[in-house]
Amino acid sequence: MEKNFFCPEPQATEKLGLLLGGLLKTGDFIRLEGELGAGKTAFAQAVAQGAGVAPGTAISPTFNIMNVYAGRVPVRHFDLFRLESAGELDFIGFGHYSGEEGINIVEWGGRFPEAMPEEGLVVKITVCQDGRRFSFLPAGARYEELCREVERAYIGH
Ligand SMILES: Nc1ncnc2c1ncn2[C@@H]1O[C@H](COP(=O)(O)OP(=O)(O)OP(=O)(O)O)[C@@H](O)[C@H]1O
Ligand SMILES: [Mg+2]
Repeated sequence: MEKNFFCPEPQATEKLGLLLGGLLKTGDFIRLEGELGAGKTAFAQAVAQGAGVAPGTAISPTFNIMNVYAGRVPVRHFDLFRLESAGELDFIGFGHYSGEEGINIVEWGGRFPEAMPEEGLVVKITVCQDGRRFSFLPAGARYEELCREVERAYIGH
């Protein structure tokens, strides 16, 4: 079931990201969608930090397509914006990572829907006049449960 969170400023985005990152486990797949400048990288940085990556380590993978950070488990951060075809995903071994140890966070995965795993959490970020709306769209039992955990933690905050 879809869960919505509203973040009026970057600090709220950071808080939500830290909270999600803290709940992630190895094998988890998070796809961030939203227009240019919506806040995908800002959110990914907080998620990575929540997953144990040192603050300030996560940077936008716009030019190098994939960054790997040391967290509680490896955290892989992708930005597929500059890829021209799904075939190029093979060059970075994209298809293998979802089964490996670590957490995967993907920006612009919606450009290649056929290459995305069936199960995962899509976080859709919408720019509003007074901030950002985060819609969590889970696919699969693990991600339904994850959304419920995020909601519980968010309310308890
Ligand atoms: N809740 C919020 N309200 C207002 N501004 C925000 C909020 N969260 C993040 N921002 C700001 O939005 C901008 C988002 O930039 P960011 O690089 O993260 O976007 P992006 O979606 O990754 O862009 P791209 O598509 O180019 O990769 C940052 O300047 C950040 O401070
Ligand atoms: Mg980005």
